[in-house]
Amino acid sequence: MKTVLHITSSAREDSSFSTNLGKEIINLLKEKNDSISVLTWDLVKSPPPLYTNEMVQGFYTPVDTSGYSSIESLTYANNLIRKISAADIIVMSTPMHNFAISAHLKAWIDQLVRFGITYTYDEIGNRVGLITDKKIYLAIASGGKQIASLSKDYIADYLTDVFRTYVGITDVTTYRVEGTAFPDFSPNYCEILANFQY
Ligand SMILES: Cc1cc2nc3c(=O)[nH]c(=O)nc-3n(C[C@H](O)[C@H](O)[C@H](O)COP(=O)(O)O)c2cc1C
Repeated sequence: MKTVLHITSSAREDSSFSTNLGKEIINLLKEKNDSISVLTWDLVKSPPPLYTNEMVQGFYTPVDTSGYSSIESLTYANNLIRKISAADIIVMSTPMHNFAISAHLKAWIDQLVRFGITYTYDEIGNRVGLITDKKIYLAIASGGKQIASLSKDYIADYLTDVFRTYVGITDVTTYRVEGTAFPDFSPNYCEILANFQY
């Protein structure tokens, strides 16, 4: 049985295009896999904590033999690692907010990336991700269609680099629903996912 973790990070509830694109991706995965279990994690309804001094210090304190930190302010971070480790596939839905990922998703990533847990260094100082063998689908929604005119793809490039370098997940596929702010916009998820990569 495959386990899918759907991370949603838009405040727009059922109207969210990024969330709905993520759901369409999961529908395709269900068609292909007979048994699939889906866990949805709404980062707006249960927001990740922002860094505190204690938390940052805790991130640099070696974990106990269980592999997890016993520091109370790292409870969310420990839980996050458990959920990521249990997932085979991660569908990550994010709105474009000021060219970047949602603030909720950024806070979640700040809880995820941990030296000694999600990454380490090799003998010549290169970062090596420690949580591998997973696939990520990015589901990005933007009001405009300006991706091609930007100097950088701030969302897909950032998420791909974070997961490759600081986590170890290299299999990242991006889908976008663009132009959601245009008058009479109606998403064509079939077209967006026409060449879906399982
Ligand atoms: C605070 C805020 C900032 C936004 N910034 C951008 C932006 O930089 N570029 C863009 O194309 N659309 C921008 N939008 C529009 C959203 O990307 C668009 O509404 C998208 O559908 C949001 O995803 P969602 O439907 O999943 O919430 C912004 C919207 C908000 C509320």
